[in-house]
Amino acid sequence: MKSKITELAKRRGLFLPSFEIYGGASGFYDYGPIGALIKNNIEQVWRSKFVLKEGLFEISSPNIGIEDIFIASGHAKHFVDPIIKCKKCGKVYRADHLIEEYGIKTQNLSIKDLSEIIRRENLRCISCKGELSDIESFNLMFATYIGADSKKAYLRPETAQHIFILFNRLYEINRKKLPLGVAQIGRAYRNEISPRQALIRLREFSQAEIEYFVFPSEKKHERFSEIANIELKLLPAENEDEIKISVKKAVENGIIANELLAYFIARTYEFLREVGIPSEKIRFRQHEKHERAHYAIDCWDAEVLTQAFSWIEVVGIADRGDYDLKAHSKMSGKKLTAFDGEKHVIPHVVEPSFGIDRIFHCIIETAYRDDGKRKFLKLKPNIAPYLAAVFPLLTKEELIKKSHEVFALLKNKNIFCYHDVSGSIGRRYARADEIGVAFSITADFQTLEDDSITIRERDTTEQKRVNIKELAEILIKLRDGEIRFNKL
Ligand code: GAP
Repeated sequence: MKSKITELAKRRGLFLPSFEIYGGASGFYDYGPIGALIKNNIEQVWRSKFVLKEGLFEISSPNIGIEDIFIASGHAKHFVDPIIKCKKCGKVYRADHLIEEYGIKTQNLSIKDLSEIIRRENLRCISCKGELSDIESFNLMFATYIGADSKKAYLRPETAQHIFILFNRLYEINRKKLPLGVAQIGRAYRNEISPRQALIRLREFSQAEIEYFVFPSEKKHERFSEIANIELKLLPAENEDEIKISVKKAVENGIIANELLAYFIARTYEFLREVGIPSEKIRFRQHEKHERAHYAIDCWDAEVLTQAFSWIEVVGIADRGDYDLKAHSKMSGKKLTAFDGEKHVIPHVVEPSFGIDRIFHCIIETAYRDDGKRKFLKLKPNIAPYLAAVFPLLTKEELIKKSHEVFALLKNKNIFCYHDVSGSIGRRYARADEIGVAFSITADFQTLEDDSITIRERDTTEQKRVNIKELAEILIKLRDGEIRFNKL
């Protein structure tokens, strides 16, 4: 599966290794023309669901942050991985990954425990069997310098910090009220020791994050009832097995600590479904205490079951308490509080943090179809790179002219579409299907007579005939799920 997707990704421009002509560097990928359209659509669905429908503020901050931010946030000290070097060939490994290569499980062990395993099992360099150094801590942030006076800075390891340090301004813009929900889609940077699995572990990746500030005693949501009955697959920290339970019951039984955390877990589930991940492949796993990030008092990961990599984390939904605002307040000397009617308090924050690249991988893997006769990406129309492709049935001048007119009409309605006249109609359908184009529109001889045109649905290959005048509206309704193709 992995190689089929990588092959398709390269050939059709979904994603491509960066800096290839200079030999490349692992952990960096370019999204090609088709991939960039799909990624934009994922972000657009996210923006519509969270920024628009949840009524959040969206901001866009610099990718760089000055050193103080990350000293305060704890990243300068705690955002580290254990590394180990081969004394003979110089190869560097993440210590836990090296141990796992020897078939030994290491989940969240301390440096002391990892060192003990390496010593006890007499583990050696995987490449040359050389002796290994002691384990050291390696900070994952990319350091850089600002200006001629070389002020130290870092590329942000998460988009979140810029929201925390802007709290006072945003609180004022929100007319000094809580809850205050702030969203940001942007790049994050982590100098991963062993980037791998294509888009899964990158050194530069896209996050879509929400910081939802509330008074500590008000971890609720006014629209909780809308999601209360959603059934979720949960794997609580103390459980061996998954349980299936409604959001409401999970809160009542104390499995999910509060309504606010549960609310965002449920909305995350809805979002993953809306972009095309089937429910049976989604579960929420609670972090055990020792695996939580330094800032979190509770955290649930949305995990997706993939063929290539088994269960992978795609979203982290954390209760960060008052950790960040307190830390930035201390470091900056500025109060970061909200007024609850009686006193000024440091708000708590619940944070759903989405990894767009991992979600992209899961969507493509889920959508990939190859039945021996036909290859296609069964993408939802709202995610498809193009909603439509427009063709003349034959390469006859009058048909090409007509299909061009239809192409122009759809473009003018802001519908992402393309026009293709090369090769046979069968080849054109095949090319469109392979990249997941939702509908193919074909102008034929009847079109010249009565302005009707055929719409072909990618998944069933069925065709319907509609009037050109209604085409754009029909396509938009099909994309938004307002009508079904078989009801046309
Ligand atoms: N602000 C919280 C935060 O950054 P995280 O669990 O470290 O939490 C959130 O990251 C999401 O970002 C993850 O669930 C994952 O989808 C994505 N992510 C993290 N590291 C990544 C990497 N190296 N490559 C690609 N995606 C990554």
